[in-house]
Amino acid sequence: MSGLLAGKRLLVTGVITDQSIAFSVAKLAQENGATVVLTGFGRMSLVERIAKRLPEPAPVIELDVTNTEQLASLADRVREHVDGLDGVVHSIGFAPQSCLGGGFLDAPWEDVATAVHVSTYSYKSLAVAALPLMSPGGAVVGLTFDATKAWPVYDWMGVAKAGLESASRYLALHLGQKGIRSNLVSAGPLRTMAAKSIPGFQQFEDAWTERSPLGWSLTDQEPAARACLALLSDWFPATTGEIVHVDGGYHALGAAM
Ligand SMILES: NC(=O)c1ccc[n+]([C@@H]2O[C@H](COP(=O)([O-])OP(=O)(O)OC[C@H]3O[C@@H](n4cnc5c(N)ncnc54)[C@H](O)[C@@H]3O)[C@@H](O)[C@H]2O)c1
Repeated sequence: MSGLLAGKRLLVTGVITDQSIAFSVAKLAQENGATVVLTGFGRMSLVERIAKRLPEPAPVIELDVTNTEQLASLADRVREHVDGLDGVVHSIGFAPQSCLGGGFLDAPWEDVATAVHVSTYSYKSLAVAALPLMSPGGAVVGLTFDATKAWPVYDWMGVAKAGLESASRYLALHLGQKGIRSNLVSAGPLRTMAAKSIPGFQQFEDAWTERSPLGWSLTDQEPAARACLALLSDWFPATTGEIVHVDGGYHALGAAM
């Protein structure tokens, strides 16, 4: 088997459509020699249907990252398909509508708590659940949206992403002694199901397409997926707690949108 991820066994969360960033990660990973196991949330038959569109149909395991029983049994359920894991991809985000679209001042704590549970704390939960299957050289990779700035309409999801970026650094700290890395890819706006649920997302689309130094495609998930593959590979052996921007260079500009 040849390719960047030859022989690697990956657990990829977050596939819901073939536009999902996770779908591109899974597809590219298989094309580069990896064995992929997917997890699906909620609409399992839909995820199973999408999984059949991969170059190699991938097994799908049910995982709601807020469900402690499902997290506790995850390693055993993954073991039915692969004998260990070299990489875990966290491609999960959710915030109730009250938390997005300008509702920052009014969103109730219960909704913010849901956003943080699913989008932030789950990064740690997923890594810990997969840990029994991992060994030195392993990697955890997640997806963020630049949380160093306050964006219009992103509101509490932005706060959740700031937490995710910090959680990744803490995971790097706590898993470093086991030889396991934790890194994030900070992607520009992409037209996925999650993105479409953000009222006013068009503002991001306009800003990125007009201003990104390299230009930006809203429908091409592959650049972000490629960065995930690189971070999962053996080519970043001494990099952890890092955030790689895959945003056409937008983050480097002097003024926000
Ligand atoms: N699309 C963008 O513009 C963009 C930009 C930067 C970062 N991201 C991040 O990329 C990641 C993937 O999102 P996407 O854009 O591919 O959208 P998507 O809608 O395709 O994927 C989001 C996934 O989260 C899953 N999910 C939600 N709640 C869950 C739960 N409780 N347990 C398990 N899974 C759950 C959904 O099932 C879905 O598969 C997210 O973290 C998102 O914030 C997206």
